[in-house]
Amino acid sequence: MSRLIAVTGGAGYIGVNLVEQLVAGGERVRVIDRFFWGKLGLDELPGVELLSRDVRELQDGDLEGVDTVCHLAGLSNDPTADLDPNANWQMNMIATKELADAAIRMGVRRITFGSSGSIYDGAGSEQILDEDAAVQPLGPYSESKYAAERALLEVQDKIEVVLLRQGTVGGYSRRMRYDLVVNTFLKDALLKRHLFLHEGGFMYRPLADVQDVAMAHIVCLDAPAAKVAGRVLNVVQDNYQVKQLAEIIAEAVKPLVGDIQLSTAPATGRIRDYRASNARMTEATGFTPQRTPVDSVASVLEHIGEVDPQELTHPRHYNLRWMQILTEVHELQRSYERVF
Ligand SMILES: NC(=O)c1ccc[n+]([C@@H]2O[C@H](COP(=O)([O-])OP(=O)(O)OC[C@H]3O[C@@H](n4cnc5c(N)ncnc54)[C@H](O)[C@@H]3O)[C@@H](O)[C@H]2O)c1
Repeated sequence: MSRLIAVTGGAGYIGVNLVEQLVAGGERVRVIDRFFWGKLGLDELPGVELLSRDVRELQDGDLEGVDTVCHLAGLSNDPTADLDPNANWQMNMIATKELADAAIRMGVRRITFGSSGSIYDGAGSEQILDEDAAVQPLGPYSESKYAAERALLEVQDKIEVVLLRQGTVGGYSRRMRYDLVVNTFLKDALLKRHLFLHEGGFMYRPLADVQDVAMAHIVCLDAPAAKVAGRVLNVVQDNYQVKQLAEIIAEAVKPLVGDIQLSTAPATGRIRDYRASNARMTEATGFTPQRTPVDSVASVLEHIGEVDPQELTHPRHYNLRWMQILTEVHELQRSYERVF
């Protein structure tokens, strides 16, 4: 019988892709998720069980029979972490630590963790950084991801931990996000034929396609412990200057919508600027992400069919807007309960 892999956040943008690839490889999967974006038909996939659970309230029994946990649940960008830094800390840092403790008690063999390349941000983009670079994470989101990494490394003598610092992700997923730079540029190119480059788009970003990021977790399920356990590994196809990325995407969609205008705009929030290397992942596992932003764009175009402005701008594709709506609904429900 195949083994059981638990995927926290398995109904998220990266998570659904990971679950699909695990199922295609014959694995059984337990998705542990709050399902902020619904169940997405995951329960129809063979060998998949869904557990509706907030990772802050995880119970040991949730990990019964689990071989490996791929941990992706939590707030997944700066704006949502800034909205409620305390909830972000509880979900991204404390829940990760408690998940590891539960996994140790339940005899789980390995955890792969979806960390973030944004941890490098404070170090700047002058050099392409490897995992030994001194870092100074900026903002609640990166601080919580870095602290969660440290917490996992503290228990590496009791469980195998693999920390994947994922670059900014792009491409198609059945739980689609248009608030990530590649997908945002594609959406704006399709709808406005105009891309705005904050501060001229000087900043660099390490990028990776969602299929490759999911594959990185799968590769790390079975890589020899001597190669991956207790290690931080970047997941990056390449580093792109935002201006260069806009030009690549404008060129890719030109046959569909014609010329795209590029303009400079003032920054609207935290500007992240950093570069990171995939070399250690390649050395440790032989896996090098190959899918470029052009492949990511092509995968989205292939799946969305007709360009539908209502669909592309629906709040569910934008984490901050969706969280604000969920918060308002929750508050309305609570006031309703108080009144009646
Ligand atoms: N997308 C990127 O560019 C990127 C880059 C680097 C790192 N990451 C990290 O990868 C992980 C997945 O990112 P994503 O883009 O798939 O995010 P996402 O927001 O699409 O998915 C997160 C999933 O976690 C679930 N979730 C959130 N809080 C939860 C909680 N308290 N309890 C249980 N489930 C909860 C949500 O319902 C959702 O299904 C995150 O940890 C994120 O920080 C993402």
